[in-house]
Amino acid sequence: MNRSDYCGEIKEDKIGKLVTVSGWVNTCRNHGGLIFVDLRDRYGILQVVFSNENVDLFQMAKSLHNEYVIVVRGIIRKRAKETINHAIFTGKVELSAQKLKILNTACKLPFEISKHNEISEELRLKYRYLDLRRLNFQKNFIIRHNIIKEIRNFMDNNKFIEIETPLLAKSTPEGARDFLIPSRLHKGCFFALPQSPQLFKQLLMISGFDKYYQIAKCFRDEDLRSDRQMEFTQLDIEMSFIEENDIMNMTEQLISKIFKVILNINLKIPFKKISYIDAISQYGSDKPDTRFSIHIEDLSIIFEKNKLNIFSSIINKGGTIKGLCIPNGGLYYTRSKIDKLVNLVRINGLDGLSWIKITSDGIKSNLTNCLDAKILKNISIKFSAKPNDMIILVANTKKELVNKILGIIRLKTASDLKLIDKKQFNFVWIIDFPLMIWDDDGKKWKSFHHPFTAPKNYDLENLIHARSKAYDIVLNGVEIGGGSIRIHDYEMQNKIFNILNIPNKLINDKFGFLLKALTYGAPPHGGIAIGIDRLCSLILGESSIREVIAFPKTQKSTDMLLGSPNTIKNKQLNELGIHVI
Ligand code: AMO
Repeated sequence: MNRSDYCGEIKEDKIGKLVTVSGWVNTCRNHGGLIFVDLRDRYGILQVVFSNENVDLFQMAKSLHNEYVIVVRGIIRKRAKETINHAIFTGKVELSAQKLKILNTACKLPFEISKHNEISEELRLKYRYLDLRRLNFQKNFIIRHNIIKEIRNFMDNNKFIEIETPLLAKSTPEGARDFLIPSRLHKGCFFALPQSPQLFKQLLMISGFDKYYQIAKCFRDEDLRSDRQMEFTQLDIEMSFIEENDIMNMTEQLISKIFKVILNINLKIPFKKISYIDAISQYGSDKPDTRFSIHIEDLSIIFEKNKLNIFSSIINKGGTIKGLCIPNGGLYYTRSKIDKLVNLVRINGLDGLSWIKITSDGIKSNLTNCLDAKILKNISIKFSAKPNDMIILVANTKKELVNKILGIIRLKTASDLKLIDKKQFNFVWIIDFPLMIWDDDGKKWKSFHHPFTAPKNYDLENLIHARSKAYDIVLNGVEIGGGSIRIHDYEMQNKIFNILNIPNKLINDKFGFLLKALTYGAPPHGGIAIGIDRLCSLILGESSIREVIAFPKTQKSTDMLLGSPNTIKNKQLNELGIHVI
């Protein structure tokens, strides 16, 4: 009984034909003289009918249970009009069974596969191989496969070559902690799993490969979120003799190709570019969701004109007052809902917020008693606010915090009022990042991206305030990729390490090989890395990258299926020269 067809692909052209299909029993319904089995394979579901006219066959069919693995032979026939199932591809036909073989039985599953929504994610991750049987999951991985196939085609057509780089490597500074691998032969020494192939790809440019890419596994020991895993996949790219726009153009071409092939969507390119400063001041985030048009406005000037008001002391101390206007927010935000926004502000480090509602009876606000009506009016004019709109104000001396909190409120209110069109794909480039930021904890300057990023329009004496030749690509508020033009000059790279206050010995230990390589004819080069898991989850409309990773870790950084991380026997630890304290 060799398989002749796939369950999910059988159409009306097979009516009257003898076929053999195999798969898993999805459901089983006994209607007295007839047993209906929904048989599932990777391609979909086919209804199989067993009739009691064939007594032996019917008896065998009676013993079937969900998730049994079977092979069935029979004739495809047209379903009666009233029994057509429009929800499935094969819904107009069914298989009239003539022969059945049970290939394997199945114990009662820890959860019903079709009821995944009611099951805790921990249990589903423990039995991931069962959860992955869901057709929706199978679809996700087929699409992920197709996206990667399209990437490989594109890169190949554009003269890129795929080169694998080591996983047992040395720390690469991408801002997270490293996963370390102890060396048995060199006790006390460790390899680091790469946070990215950054340094290798730069070395490959120095080798003259000109255009490199890799579907690369990366490892970062950081707290997990819905868009973060400790082990994830990047499309890693590097090119020589190029500038920022070359990388951005190539990335746009690639992404447009993927969207055309996978979703049949024509993206409008070039994507919009926003400077880092504008992104922070208008959206409160360097990964703005631009699918809705709420913008943050600086209102300080309105308050500066009127010296005596409750915000004077904030202005006098160099602080800021900013706000945003929520279309129709006045109707939605009742007192209790405003309290929830206030809570959100408090969780994020400020005391509270003020609000102004534009109503048919005029302006209402929690500031009415302490602010001149003219100021309230000017604020509403600044936003061109319409009746039923609501304006939210946040004031503080910590300007970054004001932006950040308004950015959070922007997202929360847009989601509350369902202002986000989930079908839209809005790409934006963020450019003109600072080269460095001040690290208050470490009390030193640190690279905004990584220390290999080239400065832009710089003053050599004042590099810490330079912009960088870095660019991030953001889709619907998620950073899906980032890259930069690199420093290819020894002196400049050394200078940057010095500004970052890395002692000379450490520079030599950690990056001596790169500095040396830069002295042997390094071409100008740059690149980008796209997070494949994030890109796939956004294309598929999934809320977490776990939905496009076959065996992801839990939020608590564990693998429920394997039970890892786990303890190691002393014998193995001794071999590695490790003593656990
Ligand atoms: P960056 O650190 O910005 O750049 O990473 C590039 C992209 O990788 C994805 N990403 C992640 N996805 C899932 N889980 C994670 N923990 C995670 N961390 C990052 C994001 C991100 O935009 N070497 C540089 C690239 C370069 O300069 O060319 C780098 O790794 O989508």
